[in-house]
Amino acid sequence: MSEIAKLEALEILDSRGNPTLAVTATLSNGVKATAKVPSGASTGKREAVELRDGDKARYGGKGVLNARDHVNGEIQKAVHGFDANNQKALDKKLCELDGTPNKARLGANAILGVSLAVARAAAADHDLPLYASLGGEKANLIPAPWFNVLNGGSHADSNVDFQEFMISPVGAPSYSEGLRAAAETFHALKSVLHKKGYNTGVGDEGGFAPQLKSNEEPIELILEAIQKAGYKPGKDIVLVLDPATSEFFDDGMYLFEKSDKSRMSPVQMVDFWKDLLGRYPEIWAIEDGVAEDDHAGWQLLTKTLGGRIQLIGDDNFVTNPTIFRQGIKDGIANAILIKLNQIGTLTETLECIQIARENGYGAVISHRSGETDDTSIADLAVAAGMGQIKTGSTSRGERIAKYNRFLEIEHELGTKARYAGASVYDRWHKAVKA
Ligand code: PGA
Ligand code: ZN
Repeated sequence: MSEIAKLEALEILDSRGNPTLAVTATLSNGVKATAKVPSGASTGKREAVELRDGDKARYGGKGVLNARDHVNGEIQKAVHGFDANNQKALDKKLCELDGTPNKARLGANAILGVSLAVARAAAADHDLPLYASLGGEKANLIPAPWFNVLNGGSHADSNVDFQEFMISPVGAPSYSEGLRAAAETFHALKSVLHKKGYNTGVGDEGGFAPQLKSNEEPIELILEAIQKAGYKPGKDIVLVLDPATSEFFDDGMYLFEKSDKSRMSPVQMVDFWKDLLGRYPEIWAIEDGVAEDDHAGWQLLTKTLGGRIQLIGDDNFVTNPTIFRQGIKDGIANAILIKLNQIGTLTETLECIQIARENGYGAVISHRSGETDDTSIADLAVAAGMGQIKTGSTSRGERIAKYNRFLEIEHELGTKARYAGASVYDRWHKAVKA
């Protein structure tokens, strides 16, 4: 049995230049591994608390020295000698030690860093890659990636209200061919934008972030780019949107502040999506199509479009098993976005994935807009056989790290590797046809 001998946290920077934590776990036999914690910008209100120092003299208050000290002090003391292979017991202990319902005392950043670092150390201890250590022999499904090729909303200084316009190469025969299709489309999009005189600088998640004429123009540009790259929209490559509507929902209305300053009621917002899907059948999924506080809007959206496309809950479910279970009861969404740092432990994250499976909901693992070179989510996607992941565009090192990790996993699995594109396509294509 390998026990936790030492935990050491370090304040590092994320992809936006904001502080975050790297946690290294050392086991009693000397084996060690490190995990780095991501950070969101368009966060759900009920996410577990990311502990920041608030000392304006350092990083504008965003320092994480207190969270670091919690790992190096109180947490280390409490879990010293714990069996590194008993993740459930470790995560339970971390939650109890924190003692708050949202990890506000020790910080979800501190707790997740420890939870993941120990999982990685346990894998290294068995000489296994993380996906095999967590998922066993059957872990061989590489997910269909959603590439966020055009960034707006809180992730870009542009006049686009919607946050993410993604492409997913579901029709590719393998993960690596899907990655190629996406990279080629990304380059084609660059030349489409260039020709039209648009800026081709990228946003937080590596997608382009130009000033455009409307919230729909990105869709037209992306469809043009897919064709230009030699692929068929709606078949080889489908579209996914994350408008992140919680960011512009205020006092019961959706306010299109960044574009034309128009307003929509929840009913109008649902009608907007219905109309958009009628005109763009290439759209495969919509995440946070209505806001986290718009409960009735979510029910209406699900009733109206839940039989046709994937409706993913991110800000509303916040990867929280209790909140997710209630949402399912209330008839909200048909899929969940999974972000480890929204809840703060690996065990609770896996519980959400299990709840989704038991209830026929889709589950899509996700990065955050603030990332590091940590690739744990790629391994977790394969371990849990999730079938879909969003982790940015085919640019920026912290996004590419995850996509390259899948190439390594695909190579390592050899003939055992399966690509989830076709099964995801079939599942939702049937729903669209029905
Ligand atoms: P965030 O955005 O990481 O900035 O919260 C991602 C998302 O809304 O899905
Ligand atoms: Zn989202």
